[in-house]
Amino acid sequence: MTDIYPVKPAVAEKAHITEPQYFEMYKRSVEDNEAFWAEQGKRIDWIKPYSKIKDVSFQKDDLHIRWYYDGTLNVCANCVDRHLPEKANDTAIIWEGDDPNVSQHISYQALFDNVCRFANVLKARGIQKGDRVTLYMPMIPEAAYAMLACARIGAIHSVVFGGFSAEALAGRIIDCKSKLVITADFSNRGGKQIPLKQNVDAASAIKGVSDYLESVLVIKNSDTSVAWNDAQDYWYHEILETVDTDCPAVEMDAEDPLFILYTSGSTGKPKGVLHTSGGYIVYASMTHQYVFDYHPGDIYWCTADVGWVTGHSYIVYGPLANGATTLMFEGVPNYPDHSRFWQICDKHKVQTCYTAPTAIRALMREGDEPVKSTSRETLSLLGSVGEPINPEAWHWYYEVVGDSHCPIVDTWWQTETGGILISPLPGATPLKPGSATRPLFGIQLALVDSDGNELQGEADGNLIIKDSWPGQMRTVYGDHQRFIDTYFSAFDGVYTTGDGARRDKDDYYWITGRVDDVLNISGHRMGTAEVESALVAHHDVAEAAVVGYPHDIKGQGIYVFVTLNVGVEASDALEKELVQWVRKEIGPIASPDLIQWAPGLPKTRSGKIMRRILRKIAENDFENLGDTSTLAEPAVVDDLIANRKNR
Ligand code: WTA
Repeated sequence: MTDIYPVKPAVAEKAHITEPQYFEMYKRSVEDNEAFWAEQGKRIDWIKPYSKIKDVSFQKDDLHIRWYYDGTLNVCANCVDRHLPEKANDTAIIWEGDDPNVSQHISYQALFDNVCRFANVLKARGIQKGDRVTLYMPMIPEAAYAMLACARIGAIHSVVFGGFSAEALAGRIIDCKSKLVITADFSNRGGKQIPLKQNVDAASAIKGVSDYLESVLVIKNSDTSVAWNDAQDYWYHEILETVDTDCPAVEMDAEDPLFILYTSGSTGKPKGVLHTSGGYIVYASMTHQYVFDYHPGDIYWCTADVGWVTGHSYIVYGPLANGATTLMFEGVPNYPDHSRFWQICDKHKVQTCYTAPTAIRALMREGDEPVKSTSRETLSLLGSVGEPINPEAWHWYYEVVGDSHCPIVDTWWQTETGGILISPLPGATPLKPGSATRPLFGIQLALVDSDGNELQGEADGNLIIKDSWPGQMRTVYGDHQRFIDTYFSAFDGVYTTGDGARRDKDDYYWITGRVDDVLNISGHRMGTAEVESALVAHHDVAEAAVVGYPHDIKGQGIYVFVTLNVGVEASDALEKELVQWVRKEIGPIASPDLIQWAPGLPKTRSGKIMRRILRKIAENDFENLGDTSTLAEPAVVDDLIANRKNR
């Protein structure tokens, strides 16, 4: 029997949406889809109001997705300017530094002033509507200013997570042909300085980058000096002195691009997921309000980094579109100690805390004391995102962190979806630990078998979505065919999520994880193909195969099988070197956890690596290897089993 946590009357009472309202609105959102979204569109200020709501085809020979497509707006003005008449002095962003003694309250007026000036700095560097700007930033207020400044002048931002390597950054600059990189000298994390500017310097030196990159704008975030290239580098604070404070927001079409965000897929290099303006901001605003049951005055905190989609939609765009107070944290959960998250909740009187299962598991390991030593008395809602939350972590989060009175919203979504698609609503949905529960408004989920047949009732299958929603990605930047091939080709006429799911007798959805070759390491997506291609680029490596295995803290760990070139000796030193190599090629989040030397890999007679078998070996599940008789050399499997690495 699964536990069920009924909606608490006190929560339902103040909620935007109660259970009967959820069912009524969901029904209307599906049966009268355009009318529903026409109404939701009104939450945004349009310069020229839309009269057309939706123009969508999921057919692969005619794929197109447009929302509110004759309307015009400016996303930055919706997140900033429009709140000034009533909220100029209200706090827009609470910034908490890595150092627990440093924090800052930024009012909507101050946000407006900073964003306008930042936008003028961009213009001074020659940035115009449609130009791509790459951000490689710490979690400092300037990251939000920079994103909003781009939106203000119609430039398209591409935020690259600060934990990615110079190589990974270079690839992303080249792919979208960025003219400008915005960075900081250093990022402060856990009391250490991470040399961001130095990584940008290394990226600039990589072949191809200088074809596009014209300048690097550097925010001063420390007293330590950095190397400087007069031809390319500009201190932000120096240009700031020269610019005006006035910067009108540019009128954008609803379907003009807002941002690109790179994410890993099962094949090839990362894809530039493109989101546009009107639909994205309507969807981010609606989901932030309903899922977090946001009310004016609430202090809302999402612990993600702006380098991921969660930071885009639920630190910056969603909350600010709603005039909320959003907390932005520069540091890490275990610095100065394991109480940090909860100390922040007390210090800033946080109502909503939205974090990831991997952080919850890491903190859970430290015991209850670091939590119990704080009061958390203002907390009323907890959120989870990024990977399935295991019931043990769910219970600890609910009972210890939330003192058994805060609902948990387990939110399922993807970079591609722009916002949350499956989640409980605090006042409407009885909770089941481990289930993301029900679809949000307008989201038509289905499960299909491997032939694409729709499954009814209780079932386990591929999770697909039958119709569009305004926050959906529009294309893969520069490669529309890849968009079609990746999401609309496996099954006809529907969006394929790449996730598997189970639907129970109450029509609740339980995400079972990726069905493709995408790993989820601490809630971060990583393509096995990316890690493999990094490894085979090393001169000692002949072949590599990468699979995931269950990992207590990270959810999934990276297990690597490596075949070395003839004549190369396996050694501990080489193992360490390969780990460093992958960190350099991609970044620390892609560090292999276990490397096994494999004299041979299990392949079919046509030469295809049988990952299913490798996955079972990595999972220690030798009983279920399945049929190995079709392998070219069945004996390699015995060797791999005998030499399996232990965790
Ligand atoms: C996984 C993060 C289970 C899923 C917003 C998805 C989840 C991938 C959940 C997207 C959840 C995200 N329960 N699995 N609540 N949330 N996932 O693009 O496999 O970084 O496809 O977006 O994370 O990861 P992405």
